[in-house]
Amino acid sequence: MTRIRSSAAQKPLLHVEVRLKNTEQGFLRTDLIRDEVSIWLRQKYSAIVIGQEITGYEGLMHAENIESVNAVEYTRTDAEENDTQKVCDLEDVQLDVQAYELHGRGDISMADLGLEDDEEKPEDLQLHVTDLPNISLERHWESLVFTKPLHTQLLHSITRMLSIMQMGLDTTTDMNWNGLMLLYGPPGSGKTTLCRGLAQKLTIRLGSYFTRGKLVEICAQSLLSKWFGESGKLVSKIFEKLEAMALDEMSFICVMIDEVETLTGSRERSMSGSECGDAMRYGDSKTDQGVIQATNQLLTALDRLRHRSNIVVLCTSNLIDALDSAFLDRVDIKQLVPNPEPRAIYEILRSCINKLIQKEILEPLVVQGQDEEFFGDGELSFPSAAQLLLCSGWEDEENDGTTRSPAIRLWRFSEKCEGMSGRALRRLPLKALARHTYSNPVALETLLDALEKLLTEDS
Ligand SMILES: Nc1ncnc2c1ncn2[C@@H]1O[C@H](COP(=O)(O)OP(=O)(O)OP(=O)(O)O)[C@@H](O)[C@H]1O
Ligand SMILES: [Mg+2]
Repeated sequence: MTRIRSSAAQKPLLHVEVRLKNTEQGFLRTDLIRDEVSIWLRQKYSAIVIGQEITGYEGLMHAENIESVNAVEYTRTDAEENDTQKVCDLEDVQLDVQAYELHGRGDISMADLGLEDDEEKPEDLQLHVTDLPNISLERHWESLVFTKPLHTQLLHSITRMLSIMQMGLDTTTDMNWNGLMLLYGPPGSGKTTLCRGLAQKLTIRLGSYFTRGKLVEICAQSLLSKWFGESGKLVSKIFEKLEAMALDEMSFICVMIDEVETLTGSRERSMSGSECGDAMRYGDSKTDQGVIQATNQLLTALDRLRHRSNIVVLCTSNLIDALDSAFLDRVDIKQLVPNPEPRAIYEILRSCINKLIQKEILEPLVVQGQDEEFFGDGELSFPSAAQLLLCSGWEDEENDGTTRSPAIRLWRFSEKCEGMSGRALRRLPLKALARHTYSNPVALETLLDALEKLLTEDS
């Protein structure tokens, strides 16, 4: 009889990122650094707080290569909420330590891409290529706030899929794998930012399998408008280049197709000339032909790429109903990215407020009376939603229903903003300051007044 054992492999993961200094010394053995830091953490700590910067590594052999060590995330597949600031007992987790060096923003040459110089340049093909992990993408992941941990679970699932596919499975006969992900949802909900953040994080997480990474962004909109009538041919050319890049098995390639409906509109609808064409501004049959050709080429190209386990294609769309059914059927993970709920809205606005305080556009926080409970001693940043909800007296209010607590005012304001996109929310504080204040620094109360006025004016 087979016994099922619950092994160490079932323990949740605590992800620790070791950021390395940029060196001119050439090749660094990140595997050795990873191992050294893992052993050191287990010896030195019994528990680690998620989000904590870990210090005291000066005695390590590779200390001079290390810029920082951070416990960045905790992955539990059944998590209902984001686990931030949680204390993790190291006995209860598997440590996933990754060491990486950030690349600069510099241009990438054709040789870097493993392509000949006389071939079309990436920009001719409406491609934008970035080395991963990259300094320009450093804040994308952390800037996103979701009430449910959809981004961390997505990162985990894709990392898991990719690492399983590295075990030599056949993508046709053993396991169906297309390496194709789709993020869909309303405008401004963070899909593009999430894709870029995912590309960065995936490259770091998969550091034990790949030594380099590239993000290749395909500008679907301009591709179709610039190469009107030839989009099919161009899609095929682009994917030939991607295939050539993927020949280097130590390189992880993340392809991003924003607004994928431009390239893979439903062929059924294009052929029947239904209203979907109008939705995508494809009124005439010539454009519909372009969509059909582009879709056909993209499907063929995706099928050719699927035996490469070092490449993933991340797509975004506002119009999932307009996508071709054969394309949708190839998608390995479809993820809805919704507009933020009040708790996430509060967090987004809070991050804007903290940034404004840091830049001295807002006056520093003065903590008094009721808010002492939320802010704590010497804590100069605005309280998080979790801190606020934990506090007993947070519903206290004046007789007329108003409150003097900035944190409670912001919470109530967040509830009124439900339905707004992340993009609109990140713009609100700036709009409010521009519309209702004269010069810096502005008092927090004044900003909150201005935000409330703005909402009444705009509604
Ligand atoms: N959930 C969120 N948390 C924090 N910021 C967000 C969130 N959603 C969107 N934003 C911010 O809104 C801006 C727009 O985001 P992004 O371009 O990723 O949205 P999108 O879903 O791709 O939009 P579109 O569908 O119009 O292309 C970015 O500055 C991003 O940081
Ligand atoms: Mg977008």
